[in-house]
Amino acid sequence: MTITIRPFREPDRPALRAMTIAAFEGVSIDHNIDRLLGPIAAQDWRERKGRHVDDDLDAPGGEILVAQDDDGRPLGYVSLRFDDASKVGQIPNLAVEADQRGKGIGRTLLEHAVARFKERGMTVARIETLEQNPVGRHLYPSVGFREVARQIHFAMPLTGHDDSSGAQTP
Ligand SMILES: CC(C)(COP(=O)(O)OP(=O)(O)OC[C@H]1O[C@@H](n2cnc3c(N)ncnc32)[C@H](O)[C@@H]1OP(=O)(O)O)[C@@H](O)C(=O)NCCC(=O)NCCS
Repeated sequence: MTITIRPFREPDRPALRAMTIAAFEGVSIDHNIDRLLGPIAAQDWRERKGRHVDDDLDAPGGEILVAQDDDGRPLGYVSLRFDDASKVGQIPNLAVEADQRGKGIGRTLLEHAVARFKERGMTVARIETLEQNPVGRHLYPSVGFREVARQIHFAMPLTGHDDSSGAQTP
């Protein structure tokens, strides 16, 4: 099988949405929130992730590179944003179908993303991963990214009967 990298086409959308939702099980902030607090507004993290994917695919000025097999079927993708003012290129999303991982598709997508950033005049590339994601922690430095910061994400339920305000009653 030959893997080709090509631009996103609209018929890819359902496959990219589905593969992202499947891929981010256990390695997404939204999933962590649901695990801690339960589904938000009767929507579980998968629906929120699906909307994030649509936002990503529709982002003005953004680009999506798709890895396809010989039949044109999407096996993975990477999304790119370009900040022309700061010359910083950002990768919001990267995913590969579960049964296609470990074959170098993620690395190839990242290498194409970096090449595209250079073509567009970016001088720095950025990507994020979670501490709980061992693949991202291994793969990104091996492509050339260097760690610059760690962040802590908090969430608080705003429904129910618990007093989460933190206010002290005298
Ligand atoms: C991250 C992801 C896109 C990588 O795609 P992929 O096609 O499997 O990537 P590659 O095959 O090019 O490389 C994977 C690397 O991770 C390594 N790896 C796999 N499992 C690992 C683990 N548990 N711990 C550390 N490294 C691991 C592989 O050995 C390989 O490294 P190598 O090339 O030095 O041997 C894919 O795993 C995925 O979709 N994951 C779920 C979604 C996700 O985490 N997206 C990124 C969010 S930041």
